[in-house]
Amino acid sequence: MILKKLTVLPAGIEVLLPAGSPLTEVEYETRQRLIPFGCRSGACGACVIEVVEGFDALGEPDDDELDFLEDLGRTGGDHRLACRCRLRGDAVVRPATDD
Ligand code: FES
Repeated sequence: MILKKLTVLPAGIEVLLPAGSPLTEVEYETRQRLIPFGCRSGACGACVIEVVEGFDALGEPDDDELDFLEDLGRTGGDHRLACRCRLRGDAVVRPATDD
């Protein structure tokens, strides 16, 4: 099994997941809410993350995700809905804040 590393800021907690895992697996692996998931289906916006490193390692966002991120005002290009990401390489992310 090929493992990939996801680092979740600000604590810098590192989680190893099988390649292709959804980021929702982080909660099961760590027993912590490092990323605040809600609906887990791309509809609520609770799981917006800023991708600090490895944007391409999380898979390509589809048009629905990009439209929703725009609706949420996250148009900078480095944001994703964590529930729509699959870990295909190492990445560093941080839950988005309102500031
Ligand atoms: S958990 Fe609701 S959009 Fe990701």
